[in-house]
Amino acid sequence: MGSPAFLLVAIDGGAASGKSSTARALSERFHFLHVDTGSYYRAITAELLRQGAKAEDHGVVQSVLTHLELGTRVLGRSAQMEIGGRVVPEAEIRSPAVNAAVSHFAAIPDVRTKLLAYQRGQAEVARAHAFRGLVMEGRDIGSVIFPTADFRFFLHADPVERARRRAQEGQTDSIAERDRLDSSRKTSPLTCPPGALDIDSTFLTLPEVVDRVSAAIATRLPPAA
Ligand code: DC
Repeated sequence: MGSPAFLLVAIDGGAASGKSSTARALSERFHFLHVDTGSYYRAITAELLRQGAKAEDHGVVQSVLTHLELGTRVLGRSAQMEIGGRVVPEAEIRSPAVNAAVSHFAAIPDVRTKLLAYQRGQAEVARAHAFRGLVMEGRDIGSVIFPTADFRFFLHADPVERARRRAQEGQTDSIAERDRLDSSRKTSPLTCPPGALDIDSTFLTLPEVVDRVSAAIATRLPPAA
């Protein structure tokens, strides 16, 4: 018998496309480690803002990044980024200031380089914690971080429906503007990579999206007991 399968699942899509809820549900169904890379870009953005960096000033951004020590804390089935041993609180990473700035910082190549190896290393974190796989969500997971992942999904939904979802969560977020910035940047833009399974979630409920994605994964790995 070979060693049990360890599956890498990539989920990409725009803001409020349903990635996080889907990835969380998969992590429970299959006992995967869930990595929300948007929260990593948000944590770094919160720290850069806290240290007074501006997205226009690449020199300052670069020098702050050099001194950031990144670690990972696993809480339940979710991985959280530690910066200098501290997990940046959820209220801080979802603040209006971070919502407004994160796409600008995420477009800076040095920021993406800082996160590239770190994100790939999350597979080792998942293995070390005996998860059966890793489900990682973001904008460039299937295209850049794990282009050879076992499964690559791309979720999209009508912008009006996505704005409604964010408002329901009580959040102020300029979804269309962030998508425009995320899709038009030069380095690792938001894109549906060739070969990924593209799902339009506009008229689907979350359980319907999860069932569709799970059906594909279950061909390789039975759901966890
Ligand atoms: O998933 P989210 O909306 O929380 O992501 C916040 C921002 O982080 C998003 O506007 C763009 C950036 N991001 C990115 O550039 N690449 C990723 N893999 C994940 C997020």
